[in-house]
Amino acid sequence: MTKRIPFIAGNWKMNLDHQQGIALVQKLDWTLKDAAHNYADAEVAVFPGFTSLRSIQTLIDADGLEIKLGAQDISAYDSGAYTGEVSGQALKKLAIDYVLIGHSERRQYHNETDEVVQAKVAAAFRHNLVPVICVGETLEELEAEGAAAVPVRQTLAALAGHDALGEFVIAYEPVWAIGTGQIATPEQAASVAKKIRDAIATEFSEDVANKTRILYGGSVKAANVAGFLRSPEVDGVLVGGASLDAVEFSGIARFQKHLDL
Ligand code: 13P
Repeated sequence: MTKRIPFIAGNWKMNLDHQQGIALVQKLDWTLKDAAHNYADAEVAVFPGFTSLRSIQTLIDADGLEIKLGAQDISAYDSGAYTGEVSGQALKKLAIDYVLIGHSERRQYHNETDEVVQAKVAAAFRHNLVPVICVGETLEELEAEGAAAVPVRQTLAALAGHDALGEFVIAYEPVWAIGTGQIATPEQAASVAKKIRDAIATEFSEDVANKTRILYGGSVKAANVAGFLRSPEVDGVLVGGASLDAVEFSGIARFQKHLDL
């Protein structure tokens, strides 16, 4: 079976200007170096806002940091008259590896449908960016359909109709657990991750399912991360609020230290 390297991703959302972003990445790097973090044990990526990407890319490049860089969105189009959009080509030029697609805040506030998400995933594949496809149910959907139905449906919709699948990551973020402190249990997260993986195996192949990393997101902190990552089904976490604090986020990245506790 393919070894999946745990992925610790920090979604800064609409927080921090580029100077604050540089300071945070520097502090994160020092903190992880101090703790002798081995990036082969857990990959660490930050997802700043668009205006910070260039500065942080320059820092990563100049100082040879092992922290990876991601964007929070991508245009479905490659170029042209789409005011305010950012193309995959422009992101790739900044040595960006990952792009968040279909975060529940975008689905909710920017009317991103499954079709839009699918088109953005296609754009990421065209530009050799790894989409981190966010899926998750609202409280109403949880009550009506259980936990896995919506995330599985959203996953398959995002992956449908591509000529070839590139590498992708799925982030399961129950909407009711985002920024609320109301966290899914490790068992709930593992059970939904398994159902998503089984659906990918059925729709595509065991091989694709085995190599795909499935993350949990929603009120993750250093104090609760180990519970999620103890399950072999959960391959990492997508962190919002706690990723804005370098010490807290590095504590999350070093989750392996808490696994035996
Ligand atoms: P919080 O960690 O702040 O709950 O946010 C989760 C999230 O939406 C990450 O994308």
